[in-house]
Amino acid sequence: MNAFNHTLQDRLIVQEVAPRDGLQIEPTWVETDDKIALIDSLSTAGFTRIEAGSFVSPKAIPALRDGEAVFQRIRRAPGVIYIALIPNVKGAERAIAARADELNLVMSASQTHNRANMRMSCERSLSGFGDIVALAKGSPVTLNGTVATAFGCPFEGTIDENRVLAIVDAYLELGMHGITLADTTGMANPRQVARLVARVLERIGADALTLHFHNTRGLGLANVLSAYEAGARRFDAALGGLGGCPFAPGASGNICTEDLVNLCNEMGIPTGIDLARLIGLSRGLPALLGHDVPGQLAKAGRNGDLHPAPEYVRSIV
Ligand code: COA
Ligand code: ZN
Repeated sequence: MNAFNHTLQDRLIVQEVAPRDGLQIEPTWVETDDKIALIDSLSTAGFTRIEAGSFVSPKAIPALRDGEAVFQRIRRAPGVIYIALIPNVKGAERAIAARADELNLVMSASQTHNRANMRMSCERSLSGFGDIVALAKGSPVTLNGTVATAFGCPFEGTIDENRVLAIVDAYLELGMHGITLADTTGMANPRQVARLVARVLERIGADALTLHFHNTRGLGLANVLSAYEAGARRFDAALGGLGGCPFAPGASGNICTEDLVNLCNEMGIPTGIDLARLIGLSRGLPALLGHDVPGQLAKAGRNGDLHPAPEYVRSIV
């Protein structure tokens, strides 16, 4: 294997989700122009995939009610896929009209969380997804199916792995191009992740699988590494570690993009993402949102961002 192929196979793809998962839970309204500016900046930082918004009920998620304007006015960078989260057929129609490149259809493995989040049973979600597949036929849009609460549910607790796999199989049978396993409230652990990733990779290639972790219990990056070692290559992350599901008690931020890219840089895993740019963007978030953000790297700086030694060190022998 030559060095180029080796690099491609090692490459970890970061899908930036701050404009969607990050902003959906923010209590303060972020102006459409500010959302667009954030997405445009992310578009030139090296990402190939950005979840730029959702087309859900504006009553459920008022923070993202301007999805049309965002998708219509972003400056689309060549080679970047702009994704929209979708709950139902109405959302799919809106997203296709707004020229989303990919629809991310979301259903929870947990019936209770799906009812809380999507206000319908899993069966009704799946049946709507069948209609979306039919709607998308003949259009260039690609479809990704997310299994939310795949590693645990804040209402039901443990989720049976066979149930998660049955949903993955149902998505594949419907004709979805990609699958995301989402740890909505940070309940996953690295061994569980490795097991489930291996079982899903028996069904699809690594180029079709995304892992979506939240750092709710501090295990986010440990889970990434475990999934990567098990063969997964694509991961959702949010600038500044923003994010969370408003319909899951105790939800907190996604894994933080710049913390993840730093981990990759330090370990020699290529991502193609400009870390200095990310740090700059992340440091602008508190002014935009009116509060501190959970990411750690933007506060600590990179390993190589050295500090001048204190004066007294010179006199110590
Ligand atoms: N976009 C915009 N409006 C939508 C919509 C969509 N995708 N889907 C439904 N609506 C509107 C309907 O037109 C209706 O409007 P009206 O009250 O003015 O007539 C209203 O919402 C209720 O429609 P209904 O189909 O009965 O929806 P619901 O109240 O049962 O809610 C969902 C179902 C799926 C629309 C809602 O729960 C939802 O949007 N959930 C997404 C939550 C989310 O984004 N969570 C975080 C990401 S995982
Ligand atoms: Zn999430």
